[in-house]
Amino acid sequence: MTPLSRREFAKVLVGGVAASAVLPRLGRAVQIAPLVAQEGLAQLAPTTYRETAIWGFEGTVPGPVLRVDQGASFSRRFVNKLSQASSIHWHGMRIDNAMDGVPGLTQEAVRPGDEFLYRFTAPDAGTYWYHPHNRTWEQMARGLYGAIIVEEKDGAPEVDVDEVLLIDDWRLTQDAQIAGGLGNMHDWSHAGRIGNWVTVNGQASWARDTRYLSRLRLRLVNTANARIFNLALAGLEGWVVALDGMPLDKPEPLENLTLAPAQRADLVVDVTAEEGGQAFIVSYERDKGYAIAAFSVRGTERAARMPAPDPLPRSNVPDLTDLATARSARLLMEGGAMGRMRGAMMNGRMSEMREMVSAGKAWAFNGVADMPDRPLIDVARGETVRVTMSNDTAWPHAMHLHGHHFRQVASDAPLGPLRDTLLLDRGETVEIAFVADNPGDWLLHCHMLEHAPSGMMTWLRVS
Ligand code: C2O
Ligand code: CU
Repeated sequence: MTPLSRREFAKVLVGGVAASAVLPRLGRAVQIAPLVAQEGLAQLAPTTYRETAIWGFEGTVPGPVLRVDQGASFSRRFVNKLSQASSIHWHGMRIDNAMDGVPGLTQEAVRPGDEFLYRFTAPDAGTYWYHPHNRTWEQMARGLYGAIIVEEKDGAPEVDVDEVLLIDDWRLTQDAQIAGGLGNMHDWSHAGRIGNWVTVNGQASWARDTRYLSRLRLRLVNTANARIFNLALAGLEGWVVALDGMPLDKPEPLENLTLAPAQRADLVVDVTAEEGGQAFIVSYERDKGYAIAAFSVRGTERAARMPAPDPLPRSNVPDLTDLATARSARLLMEGGAMGRMRGAMMNGRMSEMREMVSAGKAWAFNGVADMPDRPLIDVARGETVRVTMSNDTAWPHAMHLHGHHFRQVASDAPLGPLRDTLLLDRGETVEIAFVADNPGDWLLHCHMLEHAPSGMMTWLRVS
């Protein structure tokens, strides 16, 4: 091969796909890679339909899988090429408050055409995800989200394949476009925007080949606005090894898995469907099962099943040692359709439900429908906090705390696993506890994305 002449080199540069963005620029010490929110097209429906106009990170659904080593620092320049202000929240990551991505609380919304530098250290290995936190109910319904994986330093489970599977629920029109009605009060006061089309990694029928008795790590993320998935496996057998990014003390044999909006589960499974057969992840709806991901078994990986996996290495979340002296708060969740609530405080005065609904509110936390001026609780760094949450509504809610992982506490049961999002059934009361070791202002809200702006949002201060 003859070496390229200067002229040919120039031609390659101009015409080639090796875009100039990857070339180091003179005079700039560090080029921090951008992550661009922009419009795009995605084949969400089968190919007999046209592509769906979406909003996505890098214009794709899901956005790129970001990977970072545990303890390493991560930086990305968020560039907003959308027509709406936006931001990025790194869901579940115990990072600096200033990087939490909540407009009005931790930063200003990034206006169209502007950018924001996100830079943080990833303290815990695990499966996390990123999404906007401005008009989240619209921006996520249009496809803005992606996974961020923090790799274990050592002690990662021995697997043949590591697969990130983002499960979403879309409301599409007959010609496979994102249906309107994004702000409609019916959804907001009922279950949220439940869709009519489920995708895995943005595909109608996600599929891959696998081998008999190969071992897979499946990282499941529920990225739906409001749908709760009830999942089971067929032809795959194994364990749950982590929930919401956090390792379980002991892998739990997997039967059924409820995945509420924003929740994650890391599974380690063996392919037990036979050669020539298929294995599936199945989503159950009213007793009917639908395969949402398929694995075709071609060939054999090994002669016998591998032994059960060891637990993943422990997280760095502090232990709950001061439960008896903890600071406590109560959170009464009220409102919604078919609820008992007649009204709540809105703009500083008592308002009736009818008036609330015309102002886009349907729910209340402790009798207040607005994002309160004052925190639910203000604690010193290092204090243990207990929050009792009572769901006095006719609907389930997926409660998410920013910046911390918590455990469920109950007098008659062992401490629950570490979580950042907990599903509360209608009528249910649960108590959670955590060590408030991360200073800043942190949201506590329902992750049914229509419920948060319509009343289910509050915050805590760690000083
Ligand atoms: Cu996943 Cu406040 O969000
Ligand atoms: Cu809710």
